[in-house]
Amino acid sequence: MSEKDFITNNYTISIEKGSFEWSSPSNIALVKYWGKKDNQIPANPSISFTLNHCKTITKLAFAKKINDGSFSFDLLFEGQPKEDFKPKIQKFFERIFEYCPYLKDFHFTIDTQNTFPHSSGIASSASGMAALAMNVMSLERVLNPSISEEQFNQKASFLARLGSGSACRSVKGSVVVWGNHAEIVGSSDLFGVEFSSIHENFKNYQDTILLVDKGEKQVSSTVGHDLMFGHPFAEQRFAQAHENLLKIKSILETGDIENFIKIVESEALTLHAMMMTSMPYFILMKPNTLEIINKIWKFRNETKLPVCFTLDAGANVHVLYPNQNKAEILQFIQDELVGYCQNGQYICDEIGQGSIALK
Ligand code: DP6
Repeated sequence: MSEKDFITNNYTISIEKGSFEWSSPSNIALVKYWGKKDNQIPANPSISFTLNHCKTITKLAFAKKINDGSFSFDLLFEGQPKEDFKPKIQKFFERIFEYCPYLKDFHFTIDTQNTFPHSSGIASSASGMAALAMNVMSLERVLNPSISEEQFNQKASFLARLGSGSACRSVKGSVVVWGNHAEIVGSSDLFGVEFSSIHENFKNYQDTILLVDKGEKQVSSTVGHDLMFGHPFAEQRFAQAHENLLKIKSILETGDIENFIKIVESEALTLHAMMMTSMPYFILMKPNTLEIINKIWKFRNETKLPVCFTLDAGANVHVLYPNQNKAEILQFIQDELVGYCQNGQYICDEIGQGSIALK
């Protein structure tokens, strides 16, 4: 598949107005995407667990307008106009216009909300861009009903990627690979693909997100990705991601939790090591992030329970563990980790199945 294959030309505007509604989940990367080329092409392949409860719910209402060459939309966040979100969506429309030329034939009202607290430090760009892309594809399906389910999802992921790279992994569940990898059949830089051979041990895997610091990130992901250009360790890092993806592929297939823990924690620390060794350098972990990591290591050592952590581009800690150990590990989290969270806040999530059409 090449980018050109995603251009839709054969459509007829056969509808005056209507609306769709989708919910799209967030996802947490196991092998991290950090560094990209032009057009949202990742510098290395990544793999993630799709989440279940941390979601964006977006309604897209549309009404036919005269195509005057402009994008026309209103944006509501939790029912209220939200001007500061508009530039990001404008940019998304501009990037996808080539592939969805019908966008200028409609006025849109986008009404969006998250199931997780705003400014919780949980990136809403993945779930938000995915939910928007699903809605755009619902409109495209009206204009071009012959599109297959597979084409629908593939293009949704392709469009979501143009909004935010990690968003392309939020279309489907439960484990998604994004980025070309020689050993993963069908993998692509252009969209996410479902990774289907998952061992029982990883089904219903739990992710408890500890909200360590809910403040605005000091460095945006976009700036962070750029800092991988000319980074002294970039090439080794990109090669390592390919190796780790190959390892985690067989780990997920065979149910090898012990080695899962090693790769996942190493990936999280490598991501932050890249930030600490870029120019300019920065640290997104907070003292409590380290306290939590040390507590997890101590608890794992003492109990031999298979609990581990990963991090995204922030101070929050994702605590990952099998469903069958949920009772003991949640108890540990409540007794020993919640004290390090801002206002004691945490979110219990788990592996999910991807975006859902609500309307
Ligand atoms: C650390 O997808 O937010 O979460 O493509 O610039 O929108 P943009 O970046 P984004 O980067 C996510 C980076 C990460 C790792 C990951 O999710 O793989």
